[in-house]
Amino acid sequence: MKLKNISTAYAVYESVDELPVDVQKLMEAAIKIKDNAYAPYSNFKVGAALLLADGSIAVGNNQENAAYPSGLCAERVAIFHASSKDPKMEILKIAIAASSELNTVSKPVGPCGACRQVLSEYEVKQQKEIEIYFMGEIGDIIRTNSVADLLPFGFDKSFL
Ligand code: THU
Repeated sequence: MKLKNISTAYAVYESVDELPVDVQKLMEAAIKIKDNAYAPYSNFKVGAALLLADGSIAVGNNQENAAYPSGLCAERVAIFHASSKDPKMEILKIAIAASSELNTVSKPVGPCGACRQVLSEYEVKQQKEIEIYFMGEIGDIIRTNSVADLLPFGFDKSFL
């Protein structure tokens, strides 16, 4: 038996102003689209903005449903919309922002497991890492340099 270790490097920014200028714009797009989220059940609103290789920005927000599992997270709304518009699109960066009507979200909100899996699909497909930035309503912003940092031992097409 061998004991091994996986470590994840991540960067912490103290405010949006500290982000690189292109990411500030991306995070602002995520914060803006968050307000249009349809989240009457959780009152937890999430916005996601993708910077695509052609320089365009694609956005999405969470869409809930009375049949709870029928809803979809902001990240997947943004990704699936971008991919349906252009199947060859490549995602360079994603910015994610979240807030709640019940309390102030002061911790960075990372993408859920299912969204990590979907992001991984596109990172593997495009063979180019996707930078991920995520924040709450206030407080730090976290950056990882790839989806693999958030999803070690991921499942991908190489197993099929
Ligand atoms: N949510 C997202 O949109 N993205 C995530 O990565 C985490 C969770 C949404 C789903 C649901 O509408 C609400 O947040 C509460 O779980």
